[in-house]
Amino acid sequence: MSLSSVAPKPENDGTELATGPPNRVEVNTAYLAYPIQKNSQSFLQRFEEIVYKVNREGKGTGCGETPSIKEKTILNGVTGMVCPGELLAMLGPSGSGKTTLLTALGGRLSGMLSGKITYNGQPFSGSMKRRTGFVAQDDVLYPHLTVFETLLFTALLRLPKSLTKEEKVQHVEHVIAELGLTRCQNSMIGGPLFRGISGGEKKRVSIGQEMLINPSLLLLDEPTSGLDSTAAQRILNTLKGLAGGGRTVITTIHQPSSRLYYMFDKVVLLSEGSPIYYGLASTAMEYFSSVGFSTSITVNPADLLLDLANGIGPDFQHATERSDNPQQDPKSVREFLISAYDKNISTRLKIELCSSDVSSYNYKEAPTRNDVKSEKWCTTWWHQFKILLIRGMRERRFEAFNRLRIFQVLSVAILGGLLWWRTPSSHIDDRVAMLFFFSVFWGFYPLYNAVFTFPQERAMLIKERSSGMYRLSAYFLARTVGDLPMELALPTAFTFIFYWMGGLKPDPSTFILSLLVVLFSVLVSQSLGLAFGALLMDVKQATTLASVTTLVFLIAGGYYVRQIPPFIIWLKYLSYSYYCYKLLLGIQYDENDYYECAKEVYCRVADYPAIKSVGLSHLWIDISIMVLMLVGYRFMAYIALHREYGSMWVIRIHKLASDYALTTKRGSTLHEID
Ligand SMILES: Nc1ncnc2c1ncn2[C@@H]1O[C@H](COP(=O)(O)OP(=O)(O)OP(=O)(O)O)[C@@H](O)[C@H]1O
Ligand SMILES: [Mg+2]
Repeated sequence: MSLSSVAPKPENDGTELATGPPNRVEVNTAYLAYPIQKNSQSFLQRFEEIVYKVNREGKGTGCGETPSIKEKTILNGVTGMVCPGELLAMLGPSGSGKTTLLTALGGRLSGMLSGKITYNGQPFSGSMKRRTGFVAQDDVLYPHLTVFETLLFTALLRLPKSLTKEEKVQHVEHVIAELGLTRCQNSMIGGPLFRGISGGEKKRVSIGQEMLINPSLLLLDEPTSGLDSTAAQRILNTLKGLAGGGRTVITTIHQPSSRLYYMFDKVVLLSEGSPIYYGLASTAMEYFSSVGFSTSITVNPADLLLDLANGIGPDFQHATERSDNPQQDPKSVREFLISAYDKNISTRLKIELCSSDVSSYNYKEAPTRNDVKSEKWCTTWWHQFKILLIRGMRERRFEAFNRLRIFQVLSVAILGGLLWWRTPSSHIDDRVAMLFFFSVFWGFYPLYNAVFTFPQERAMLIKERSSGMYRLSAYFLARTVGDLPMELALPTAFTFIFYWMGGLKPDPSTFILSLLVVLFSVLVSQSLGLAFGALLMDVKQATTLASVTTLVFLIAGGYYVRQIPPFIIWLKYLSYSYYCYKLLLGIQYDENDYYECAKEVYCRVADYPAIKSVGLSHLWIDISIMVLMLVGYRFMAYIALHREYGSMWVIRIHKLASDYALTTKRGSTLHEID
């Protein structure tokens, strides 16, 4: 059977093949957030023989044997083509590989991926990344921003600098109206701890974020899940409109109604990673009936397709025709459908893909390296920094000043102040303990808060970096600078209360210097927390490392152990709380200060054992070391992030290089990527 007879194009006169791209794309701008730019490009996407495997550990056969590594095939030779102006739907039961295939087509899948994916005949590149919209199955959104703010910040970061702010706001309003989000535009997104907008509304916000950029290629993972049929229809109408405007739209979908099903141009049906149908949506029923799976009753084609992908035949027509009875066993039904696909669709599809010549159509050439470089970022570094800073501060306005944290810090300050209430200068041991408490509390409290910063943002960072939204350096600086006012306000309030209640030197300059040292220590400790978080990107591991470090720094801080054995004395010099403690002592006391050590007996402060062990001199060296720590830890955090999210393409190339050995061994083609 000819594929073209199986899948004739509904819009054309039937002479064009299902795989053949239309010669001219009618551009309908009614659905676009803003008019197509002059340089906007249509994508013809082809994917051939996509195979994706993962390693999984099998059980060892005997006692003491190491578990064997087995390969699991997730995608098994999926081939197809989507032209600009088309809406392709991927159907299949849960776990059939829809998300995996969509991720591969969006250029976001690495690992043991083989086959060939091209966009207008070119491999995936950085500039394509910015023209591709990807709506993931799980919504990754900031919980404390409203719907309007979420879309506005996306617009400000992703729309080109040629548009004014007012124009960007207009596009946001347009998208909000288009997606029916007007009613909830001022509601917060919400998160696991507090209720915000509904799941369906979140999904529409995620779609809106991608629609805003007017992508040439739009990939969506289950955009209609959790929506009622009217809302789902509305989303599909919008997608159809985007496709009609010259976009290439690919979506996975679970259980579409027949109304929705007939809106698709093409369908890929997957069964456990293997394709069992590729072609026009309108001819799928015809194809399955031609291979023996027809149904006498009127059904939703999507229901029939999903039943077949699950190995459940519609009736027993096939069984009566064949001696073996595949319907009785889902496995044999699937095997039969896979072999029918190979026989009827696969071979012809490959021939037609080879014969379709991309260059003969009206697509622009892929941009040259220089073009790519010039349009690498659609906004300037400074603009990205500014927007990310404002967004971060909006998002964390509740977090930094939440009542619990304020209560925690103020209650410790007041209780501490009461315990050390107006300590007389003759009680030097209590005063030294008080200064040590300052250094410990503000040396370690910010560290535990900072450890969460990057691991918590991981999903967002992956999402936004893979769509080329901003530079990593702009994000890093905005994230760390944005935290400063919030992180410094609480220690300032704490020092005000604790210092004066505790009765330390009532001299304004000494107080201000002590406050500056405490704030400096907060910054250093925060930097170490950021570095731990960025290095491990796992909250549990990072907090464990932070607790070990704080305990070691606490003991080596110069207060508890005064005679540290020489072979381990270096630990003391790594502890920033040691320098903070030393600086606080140096500010509070002078080398020539005296205190009343016994009744009417005065001793030199510098000779008091706890002070003598750390000394009161060379304070500039301590400050310099803390500056070095501040810069060093932050640099370490940046490098760690850069390694993970900075040059995804370099990492991909590295991974693909290692995959190359595997794929060439299997004799398949390497996934083409720059
Ligand atoms: N990295 C991986 N490691 C192990 N298994 C994986 C990996 N990636 C995907 N899989 C497996 O591959 C199969 C397909 O996953 P995928 O998420 O693509 O399915 P899906 O069709 O999108 O399912 P759903 O409809 O439930 O979203 C699943 O069984 C999944 O467990
Ligand atoms: Mg999925």
